[in-house]
Order: sequence, then structure tokens, then C-alpha cells
Amino acid sequence: MEFERIVKERYAAKSFDKRKIPKELVDRLIEIIRMTPSSYNVQPWKIKIIEDDETKKKLMSASYNQPQVETCSHLFVLCADIDVEKNVDKIAELMIKEGVEKDKANAYSKMVKSFLKSLSKEEIIVWAQNQVYIALSNALNGAKALGFDACPMEGFDPKEYSKILKLPKNLIPTVLCPIGYANDKPRKKIRLTKDDIIF
Ligand SMILES: Cc1cc2nc3c(=O)[nH]c(=O)nc-3n(C[C@H](O)[C@H](O)[C@H](O)COP(=O)(O)O)c2cc1C
Repeated sequence: MEFERIVKERYAAKSFDKRKIPKELVDRLIEIIRMTPSSYNVQPWKIKIIEDDETKKKLMSASYNQPQVETCSHLFVLCADIDVEKNVDKIAELMIKEGVEKDKANAYSKMVKSFLKSLSKEEIIVWAQNQVYIALSNALNGAKALGFDACPMEGFDPKEYSKILKLPKNLIPTVLCPIGYANDKPRKKIRLTKDDIIF
């Protein structure tokens, strides 16, 4: 589907019909998410994918009982990964594997680590979560491009999610992206005008 059409036709689905999205399409969506750009290319995200009904049920009250969580095919829990230094090391290694000179990869690693050291833990969380939202955007439009629907969701309790999903401390549940086949109809797009947003 052409990108402008995807952006216009995508909408926040409020419930899904419980049909399963084929694994091949889910894998293609993961690949779209994996291509997301990020600051210094650090990719500070990890995504927990929930497919089973039992876990979805457990998450319902921590999601303000929003039906998307229980009716979706797959629930993507997009987490910010604040253990970013390990990613920097991995990226530097991958750069070398891809033919980047060792000195350049080491300089990259040094620069990014010194940037990270200049931030407080709270600032790293905000910075990492900002990157997660870019991945969310790819996930939402990617879902539409692949022929199914999604909903961006901040309406959940991250602490409860961490407990229920037994997430390690370095992962901060940031935003949800349930995907599936929508069981509702798109609403009229309500958007500010060009003059409202461009100055
Ligand atoms: C970061 C973010 C969080 C959102 N959280 C929720 C949510 O918890 N539940 C929900 O039903 N919709 C949620 N929405 C959907 C918005 O209400 C919706 O995107 C907006 O009204 C525009 O409608 P559209 O996406 O259908 O064009 C969220 C959207 C974004 C971008």
C-alpha cells in the first residue's frame, strides 16, 4: 500500500476479532520495527510479544480493562532498555564486522558512552523512551501496510506490567501496540489544520 494511504487509513482500533495474524506477517512487522532509526543508532528497546490468552487476561486490569489487550492477536509491549552500554558495545562490534575500521568503531563507542555518562538515570529513561516511540510509529504504520490493524496504548500501569511479565529492572514498559484484525470501524480523522501546526 502506498505510504500516504497507509498514514491516512491507519487508525487506533478499539477492539479486534481475535483472529491470529500469520507468523510470517508478524515476522515482517518485527523486521520493520528493527529498521527503526534511533539516536546514535543505539536502539534502546526490547519488545515482549504476548500471544497467549492467559497472560493477556492477567494484563487486563493493569490495562484499565481496555478490550484491545484481550482481543488482539499479539500484544507488543514496547520497553525502553536502559542498559544501553551493552548495545553500544554490540553496535561497535557489528560495525567492525560490516567493515568499519576498528578505530572508527572505537571512537563511536567512546563518544556515545561519554554522552550517556553525561545523563542522569532519569534522563536516560526519557531518552530511551523517546526512541521507543519512533519504533511505535513504525509498528503502527507497518501493521497497516501488512494488512492488519493496531492501537498505540499508553493506558496501562507499567509497574504492574513489569511484575506480571517478570521483566528485568533495565526494561521499562513504555507503550503497548496490540495488533490484530480490527472489529470496529475507523472514526473520522480529527486533526489540527496545516495553519495550526506550521508557523
Ligand atoms: C502514545 C499514544 C497513546 C495512546 N493510548 C491509547 C490508549 O491507551 N487507549 C486507546 O484506546 N487509544 C490510545 N491512543 C490512541 C489515540 O487516542 C488516537 O491515536 C488518536 O485519538 C487519533 O486517532 P487515530 O489514531 O484513530 O487517528 C493512544 C495514542 C498514542 C499515540
